[in-house]
Amino acid sequence: MKGVLKTEKLALHGGTPAKTVPYGTGKRFGKEELVKLEEALNQNTLFYWHGHMVKDFCKKFADMYGVKHCVTTSSGTASIHVALGAVGVGPGDEVITSPITDMGSVIGILYQNAIPVFADLDPYSFNMDPKSVEEKITDKTKAIVVVHLAGNAAEIEEICKIAKKHNVYVIEDCAQSYCCEYKGKYAGTFGDIGCFSLNDFKHISAGDGGMVVTDNEELYYKALMFADKNFNRLGTEVVKNAPYLAPNYRMNELTAAVGIAQLDKVKDICAKRNVYGDKLNAALQGIKGLKPMKVLDDCTCSYWFYMFRIDEAEMGATRAEFVNALRAEGVPAQAGYMPTCVYQYDMFKNGTIYPGATKCPLDGTYGGRVKEYKDGDCPEAEAILSTCIKLNVNEFYTEQDLAETIEAIQKVCNYFNNK
Ligand SMILES: Cc1ncc(COP(=O)(O)O)c(C=O)c1O
Repeated sequence: MKGVLKTEKLALHGGTPAKTVPYGTGKRFGKEELVKLEEALNQNTLFYWHGHMVKDFCKKFADMYGVKHCVTTSSGTASIHVALGAVGVGPGDEVITSPITDMGSVIGILYQNAIPVFADLDPYSFNMDPKSVEEKITDKTKAIVVVHLAGNAAEIEEICKIAKKHNVYVIEDCAQSYCCEYKGKYAGTFGDIGCFSLNDFKHISAGDGGMVVTDNEELYYKALMFADKNFNRLGTEVVKNAPYLAPNYRMNELTAAVGIAQLDKVKDICAKRNVYGDKLNAALQGIKGLKPMKVLDDCTCSYWFYMFRIDEAEMGATRAEFVNALRAEGVPAQAGYMPTCVYQYDMFKNGTIYPGATKCPLDGTYGGRVKEYKDGDCPEAEAILSTCIKLNVNEFYTEQDLAETIEAIQKVCNYFNNK
């Protein structure tokens, strides 16, 4: 084990907790947001097509990302649905994605009556394994929704190569990965479309909201329309005779006003999280029984959270024992990330995705190949969820928070390793 060996009594056994002060906190919103909100209200319209906040926000985000186009939406979930609509995913198509993600990555697939197919994951980056992605491609695959989990880049170049070979679209889900750089490019700019979320738990927040970015002009216009009932507002008259079904996922001017102010803060927020997360990750290398998070070479991870795995036999503790000890030291560690893989949720296991007797889209109505999901579909993802431990990362955390968190983990590991 690296670092100083701590042999003090665990806090769990009456020793002094490693964490001596509460974790740093701070204000996420301030005058900057208020100024833009007032400006938005003074326009006397909050409709995106009439005001300039959404337009300014789109330009600012597209410039920051070095892409040609940005479309705003009402959530990250909406962004992914819009991306799927733009690339033309429809009934019976298959879309490959990750089994460890928010339902928002999958909801749009299901609303298109398409079929989610889950690829297995890399054991330590928790991102999609390109080999598994390729194995899951069939002649029905229309797109791959690549999730960059926790601010950490997936093997996106490899996945894009595979997608190109098989002629399928790549949609990047960057809801958890603002300013995540890989080989000098932002995650979200490798595939055909990148999707972002502004929900309140993300690096930046506008309450709710989302963005879709692309360099492809045709996909841009399709996304723009799909986010707005497939109405065409590009001419002088609005054309409401939509070519096909699309929802209303419009962003309003107030959301964009907050978004503009938040964009001024996002690089700093991500840079701070990167420094904290990288130092934490470096300190956890080489500890018996602890398997640190894998960040690709050439990736600047913006650590939406930090996650590692425990080998219980090697560590000499169960995950529950380890987490209890860590929590007693004052580190709010969480055993696991989500309770099960997405495909193990009741709606997938029972085929009850829509209300009523239908098993749609798993009933083969549209020539769908996938009829059921079962335990064991993605063994590595299931193993990750049963052995992972999640730690919070925050831009307001201090050097002391970092030092005490590392000390707590080392202390707990040392105790169990030498028990
Ligand atoms: C990876 C991922 N994708 C999609 C979403 C959906 O975003 P939203 O909550 O804004 O709909 C989330 C949100 O938690 C997410 O973490």
